[in-house]
Amino acid sequence: MFKRTSARNWSFQFLLICLVLLSCAEDSKAGLTSTFIRQLWPSTDIPLDNEVFAVPTGHNAPQQVHITQGDYDGKAVIVSWVTTEIPGPSKVQYGKSEHQYQWSAEGTITNYTFYQYKSGYIHHCLVDGLEYDTKYYYKIGMGDSARKFWFHTPPKIDPDAAHTFGIIGDLGQTYNSLSTLEHYMQSKGQAVLFLGDLSYADRYTENDIGIRWDSWGRFAERSAAYQPWIWTVGNHEIDYMPELGEVGPFKNFIHRYATPFLASKSSDPVWYAIRRASAHIIVLSSYSPFVTYTPQWRWLREELTKVDREKTPWLIVLMHVPLYNSNEAHFMEGESMRVAFESWFVQYKVDFILSGHVHAYERSHRISNIHYNVSAGDAYPVPDKSAPVYLTVGDGGNQEGLASTFMDPQPEYSAFREASYGHSTLEIMNRTHALYHWHRNDDNNKVTADSVMFLNQYSATNCIGEKKKT
Ligand SMILES: *[C@@H]1O[C@H](CO)[C@@H](O)[C@H](O)[C@H]1NC(C)=O
Ligand SMILES: *[C@@H]1O[C@H](CO)[C@@H](O)[C@H](O)[C@H]1NC(C)=O
Ligand SMILES: *[C@@H]1O[C@H](CO)[C@@H](O)[C@H](O)[C@H]1NC(C)=O
Ligand SMILES: [Fe+2]
Repeated sequence: MFKRTSARNWSFQFLLICLVLLSCAEDSKAGLTSTFIRQLWPSTDIPLDNEVFAVPTGHNAPQQVHITQGDYDGKAVIVSWVTTEIPGPSKVQYGKSEHQYQWSAEGTITNYTFYQYKSGYIHHCLVDGLEYDTKYYYKIGMGDSARKFWFHTPPKIDPDAAHTFGIIGDLGQTYNSLSTLEHYMQSKGQAVLFLGDLSYADRYTENDIGIRWDSWGRFAERSAAYQPWIWTVGNHEIDYMPELGEVGPFKNFIHRYATPFLASKSSDPVWYAIRRASAHIIVLSSYSPFVTYTPQWRWLREELTKVDREKTPWLIVLMHVPLYNSNEAHFMEGESMRVAFESWFVQYKVDFILSGHVHAYERSHRISNIHYNVSAGDAYPVPDKSAPVYLTVGDGGNQEGLASTFMDPQPEYSAFREASYGHSTLEIMNRTHALYHWHRNDDNNKVTADSVMFLNQYSATNCIGEKKKT
């Protein structure tokens, strides 16, 4: 259905090589707007009877299985799933061999309504006390309906621990979403940093909202049951629907997706931090209060003081709404959070700020705009070696389609931008180097369209890499 001529294929390959060459050096100051725009399929959701949403067979079979990191340092996972017929059991059996599940953990069960929709029985089970860098097999459900999965724990916290993160945002449940997910699953990604806007179920009405949260759970299971997805909330998680009598923010998300927020002393599941391998990851909520003195502001101020770059040199912050982006869609929506937090991000030399929300891809140069205040200073971002790189990866493929209009001319702070569906990977190699790729979904091949070797912000400043060599 999507045949290309070989001539077009060659010119495409050539374009790719050019893009990769152009974007290889982190310090190159040229901004690039790719003209490559590809929309493979119409932006409509996959029908519910499609096999990607298949309900597992058997009485009360567990469905929508997903895991996330369960503690601060990576020795625990939270296993979550849904059963539809009866509540129990809520047990995870696990072990280091496929044939022996010698340990077990007991979870909790919750259920809720959304308008007249009644959820299934949602299980969350903390499996802790795990060994680092180990493959575990786990089993949930009873008898013939039991289902088996596996996951790998990360290496122990160490400045040189290698780890590869996938980065996905604004996924939804269209054919483009499926393409993104399948391409990601062919990568070496070991955990997903998810940048918000999961199911887009809020684009439906009444009971179909809950039904599309369920179908998304079954859709994401193919990856999320086998490796932790680190969740960030987006606007499509707010689910504020007074017309249906539903006004509690994040109601569907919070019942279904657990986060280890207590482990980082957060008071709210939608902002928290984890450490994994050589990375300290801070998750923020663009849609919870964050101005001075609010709980999220106070928590972040405290969490930043806990970051130990000697143990976790990579400092990564996730939030749904980008602080720097030059797409016409959602332009400047992150401005209030930028004003609240940017000076901290520069002070603490954050490596990357990862966001979604804008349905396109963009990478910034290291820039800051922290000298301006309402009474003084230049109000334009300037090059700043201490500043993070801002990455917008909101191009997962949801039903709203691509945000294909970028501001023209391209602002100096924008290094690379393209409106195509895709995902990124961040391959942390050691304390000094991380290889970053953005992959555009291209037919059935995985394609790398933007590729950068990033140097760690802390080591660069402290010359740790150089010190080691002498
Ligand atoms: C949760 O499940 C129980 C047992 O089936 C049921 O009685 C109750 O009404 C459900 N609660 C909600 C909020 O749906
Ligand atoms: C705003 O900028 C002016 C001029 O640089 C400075 O005197 C003032 O202290 C700044 N205000 C704040 C709140 O940073
Ligand atoms: C980290 O890995 C890069 C790429 O392999 C290498 O060039 C560099 O020397 C390594 N740094 C350290 C501190 O091991
Ligand atoms: Fe969004």
